[in-house]
Amino acid sequence: MKLCPSLLSSDFARMEEEARTTLPLADRFHWDVMDGHFMPNLTFGPPVVNALRRRLDQPFDIHLMIDRPAVYAPKFDVRPTDVIIFHVESSDPRDLVIDAIRSVGARVGISLRPATPLEEIRPILDEISYVLVMSVEPGFGGQAFLPEALDRIHELRKMIGDREIDVAVDGGINVQTIRGVVEAGADIIIAGSAVFGAEDRLGALSELREAAGCP
Ligand code: DX5
Ligand code: ZN
Repeated sequence: MKLCPSLLSSDFARMEEEARTTLPLADRFHWDVMDGHFMPNLTFGPPVVNALRRRLDQPFDIHLMIDRPAVYAPKFDVRPTDVIIFHVESSDPRDLVIDAIRSVGARVGISLRPATPLEEIRPILDEISYVLVMSVEPGFGGQAFLPEALDRIHELRKMIGDREIDVAVDGGINVQTIRGVVEAGADIIIAGSAVFGAEDRLGALSELREAAGCP
């Protein structure tokens, strides 16, 4: 299991410093890029993520909650262990987005909103290496975990079979919900408010790991 703090709940004026408060217990970092159109929220884009990419060593998960991922994916300066995640509900044709993500040398990830059928991603399973299951309606941190995500993670694991694909879960993760998602088959756990809402970030990450049953 990998723990991946989501900087959406951090102090945006000090994002590098905020990320560093989670070291060495953060395995990856999660960046929520929103365009104020695909999602009713507006955050940051390539210039900000690229500046942080130069200053941090952990792999990045770049979660594109934007309508035109094929246009913006090439603007990220990534490393080969980074993943750029696009939403299956976005407007650009999937093959174009996948080519755009590969063109910058990132791993390809896909995400689905809670109500989108898992079947939507079956046709591209051989093209991707990461699926991000949303366990809240995307757009904002600090929402309550939707328990139906557990069955989806389980179903997704069956659909993936023996392909090498990471299953990540995003939204409402805390010490109460983490164990269920890990048991259902998630291997990358994204947590925003549970980490950055705590005074002691390392304490919060250790508690999450312990609650997951993977100390
Ligand atoms: C929500 C974002 C998440 C968010 C999770 O749209 O995709 O990454 O940061 O925040 P928490 O962990 O607070 O639910
Ligand atoms: Zn996210």
